[in-house]
Amino acid sequence: MDMAIYNKLSYIHKSELISFHMPGHKYGRIFEKLGYDKYMDKLYKLDTTEILGTDNLHNAKGIIKISQENIKNILFAGMNQYDKDNLDLVYLVNGSSCGIEAAIMTACKSRTSIIINRGCHQSAYNACMLGRIEPIFVAEQINEENNVLMGASNQDYIEAIKSNPHASAVFITRPTYYGMSQDIDELVSFAHENNMMVIVDEAHGAHFGLSHLLPKSAVYSGADMVIQSVHKTLPSITQTSIMIYRKSTVDKSRLSSILSMVETSSPSYMMMMSIEICFDIYEKKGLVLMQNLINNIYIFRRGLKDYKVFPTSDPTKIFVNTIEKGINGYDFAKVLRYRYNIQVELANYNGVLFLATIANTKSDFDKTLFAMEDILEKKLFGALVDFHEDSQEVLKQSKTGSIGSIYRSEAIEIDLPVGIPPRKMSLDKAFDSDKEDIKIEDALNRISGEFVIPYPPGIAVLAPGEVIDQELIDFLVEARKLKIDINGLESQSFNTIKLVKE
Ligand SMILES: Cc1ncc(COP(=O)(O)O)c(C=O)c1O
Repeated sequence: MDMAIYNKLSYIHKSELISFHMPGHKYGRIFEKLGYDKYMDKLYKLDTTEILGTDNLHNAKGIIKISQENIKNILFAGMNQYDKDNLDLVYLVNGSSCGIEAAIMTACKSRTSIIINRGCHQSAYNACMLGRIEPIFVAEQINEENNVLMGASNQDYIEAIKSNPHASAVFITRPTYYGMSQDIDELVSFAHENNMMVIVDEAHGAHFGLSHLLPKSAVYSGADMVIQSVHKTLPSITQTSIMIYRKSTVDKSRLSSILSMVETSSPSYMMMMSIEICFDIYEKKGLVLMQNLINNIYIFRRGLKDYKVFPTSDPTKIFVNTIEKGINGYDFAKVLRYRYNIQVELANYNGVLFLATIANTKSDFDKTLFAMEDILEKKLFGALVDFHEDSQEVLKQSKTGSIGSIYRSEAIEIDLPVGIPPRKMSLDKAFDSDKEDIKIEDALNRISGEFVIPYPPGIAVLAPGEVIDQELIDFLVEARKLKIDINGLESQSFNTIKLVKE
């Protein structure tokens, strides 16, 4: 058999790619560097299931319970015993996505509602669909110069709580993918005073406890359920996540039942051991490694003096504006990858996002700084149009300076529709309805049957069940002209939209 996945990943591994993307272990380099490869190499031999002497993640009583408790004690070492005893920590082996789904469906019974930031992860929308829950959206703040999602403002959340006293819960994405966090102590208290549960998507914040220069976890703000992706910002295997919840407010039995609905019935012991290995590193070396990382980032950012770097709340997320230099973020990411062997976490039209973790070395930053300066010096504007990533020939060429057509990208201005469209049908009913494809220009006042998520900025301007107005039609027509990428729309040409059949 042609082991296509294995072969490709081995090829990438051999290329010693500099990783500023997930997973946080950066191709396992941190395990080798710290002598943890001896554990990681053994994982497949220890792989097992629920047999005599092991445990069951969905009803942990033995080693999994002990392990989860150990990690809670590492993460919240400085917390007073009373508060710590009120917390439970559970492993998630289907990523934070399953934790978000379970948290929302635990806090909200079907046909109740939840206040949620519009720029939330797809799993939050999915939870509303699965659980038949009505989302009440709070507008996302967007930094337009960089197309960076900032989360919803506290004030908007508070207004939404006041106007929707019947809502069961508030869902906050903090930090955002781009590393933006706000102080939510008062918001959490206000939600609690109004009898609403608080769920925080902290998928990008598992490392927050490693330095006082990082934002504090929402657990300290009193949130009821906090979900963290260990695999994103700490050294652990992809899909490993945790949920921390307050025993005094969360119905444990409902949470466990829902978790077993959205998560595999064969939880991977390899993943759970990977979380343990990760937190052994966290406990023994984490603070020092994070201090070194923050120093390296400080030097790196100082070196990037010719670029505009967006000030994120989390220094380990570095967003560099490239459009201002005449290179759009997508092209810039390709130049970094295929000319300098550096992979970023994300590109949007306006720039690139580096996700650095304690597994990144000084040399990663030095090489990247060199590349960033070289790109400006050699004026490598624009795209590698005929570039085929698998071609060794092109790789060779690119190292000698010939990288295809060169053109400048212009900044594009898109006027996103303001406001969140009114909802005429629940998400789940719209999802279940029969649909028809209609020309975008003819969709006025009709109910959408699909998501419309333009990139940039990567936020839904329309969701199933919402009504289409003229502003949205004008936006889509303009977006088509500007060739803006739109996720969600099934029509590749962006000419038609799926509507609920009348
Ligand atoms: C903000 C946010 N929340 C949740 C998730 C889902 O996390 P996971 O990949 O662990 O399922 C992501 C994934 O990228 C995310 O960016």
